[in-house]
Amino acid sequence: MKSILTDRPALKQALDTVAEVAGYLWQKGWAERNGGNLTLNITEYADEQMRAMPAISKPLPIGVTLPHLKGCYFYCKGTGKRMRDLARDPMCAGSIVRILDDCATYEIIADEPIVPTSEISSHLSLQNYMIECGSGYKATLHTHPIELVAMSHSQEWLDSEHLTQTLWSMIPETLAFAPLGIGVVPYALPSSVELADPTLQLIKKHDVVLWEKHGTVAVGPDMMEAFDQTDVLNKAATIFMTAKNFGFTAEGMTPEAVQTIRTVFNLPNER
Ligand code: 13P
Ligand code: ZN
Repeated sequence: MKSILTDRPALKQALDTVAEVAGYLWQKGWAERNGGNLTLNITEYADEQMRAMPAISKPLPIGVTLPHLKGCYFYCKGTGKRMRDLARDPMCAGSIVRILDDCATYEIIADEPIVPTSEISSHLSLQNYMIECGSGYKATLHTHPIELVAMSHSQEWLDSEHLTQTLWSMIPETLAFAPLGIGVVPYALPSSVELADPTLQLIKKHDVVLWEKHGTVAVGPDMMEAFDQTDVLNKAATIFMTAKNFGFTAEGMTPEAVQTIRTVFNLPNER
């Protein structure tokens, strides 16, 4: 079957990276069944022919109005679709959508009318913000990393500052590669506005957002970077957990040692 990726090698390459990341999510046990979802802004690959492609769905509501997304194109994982299937073929587990001029609806243009993820309003709100602030970021990633989600089951770790300081102190690289830390959103229904709104507010100040008893959200210039942000913070959580399994609580680097890394490497405090 002819795909939108046929004769568009640059777009195919971008989606190959998405597929590679989807494979890692599955291998790590972060993507049970249809768990997790992602979007990639592919507007830069939208040639004249692609812009002329007819819709293969009726206009669908985003749930919010996002003025910076007018005329943009996104690859979205399909709702109910598996990351492990996406890893083999992104167009079997997702679709490409065009945002309509009202900035509140979208239509599917390729390859099949696969309805995007149930978390689409959250993902597109983040995409809208990333354009608005001129970040150049193209990728959003929601996944279910085991150790971070486990930590979010304790009241102690729902305090963003406390959780961030603890994760930073596990290994120097955590601070170096996630200098903005992790923000925690209290439990809310998946795909709800109550989840999407605070996620948008917290990603402005953090590298990764943790949804209590559910998963994480990260953004990045490409999907690999969004994955790395999540992986770096979850690695710190895994070290913390491994020490617990050895029967002790990890000592953690001292606050002075952590501060020295921030100073020496001139790490940013904000996006
Ligand atoms: P979707 O299959 O709709 O993408 O949902 C998966 C998920 O993780 C919801 O939070
Ligand atoms: Zn989820």
